[in-house]
Amino acid sequence: MALLDILAYPEKYLKKTAKPVMNIDGALQKTIDDMIETMYEAPGIGLASIQVGYDKSVIVYDPSYGEDRKALTVLLNPKIIETHGETVSENEGCLSVPDFRSDVKRAASLLVEALDREGKPLQIEAKEYLAIILQHEIDHLNGILFIDRVSALKRELYKRRIIKQLKQDDK
Ligand code: NI
Repeated sequence: MALLDILAYPEKYLKKTAKPVMNIDGALQKTIDDMIETMYEAPGIGLASIQVGYDKSVIVYDPSYGEDRKALTVLLNPKIIETHGETVSENEGCLSVPDFRSDVKRAASLLVEALDREGKPLQIEAKEYLAIILQHEIDHLNGILFIDRVSALKRELYKRRIIKQLKQDDK
């Protein structure tokens, strides 16, 4: 296994839309294992393929941070089929948006269709924390960062802070 580089805002690749996985082969399985290792190492709760520069539709997540191996989930080609209600995620964060947290308006519950890593179709009904993770990670596959869902003012302030930091790092 290998650790992958996690792309960070304002990297343009993060705006890419993932393509569906068509072939479930050894190369895909290796990428999935690398994504899992990268997520645990970060450490993060979830990781989407686009964040590591891979343009096929894959997400991995584990709300237990590796404490409970049964909580580790790999989804290929996840699609949100239904959403219900509205909630606000508290203090959402993202490995690709360092040093920024915000509340984000999200659906309260949802139904997702996907394939597991062997290609078996599955449906996930999720609410609360899991529903937020799924929305956040599936957003990545559509080129959307959680910062795109906060107010323009908050986003602009963050952008300025990051650009300033990047300039300082260049010196
Ligand atoms: Ni993220």
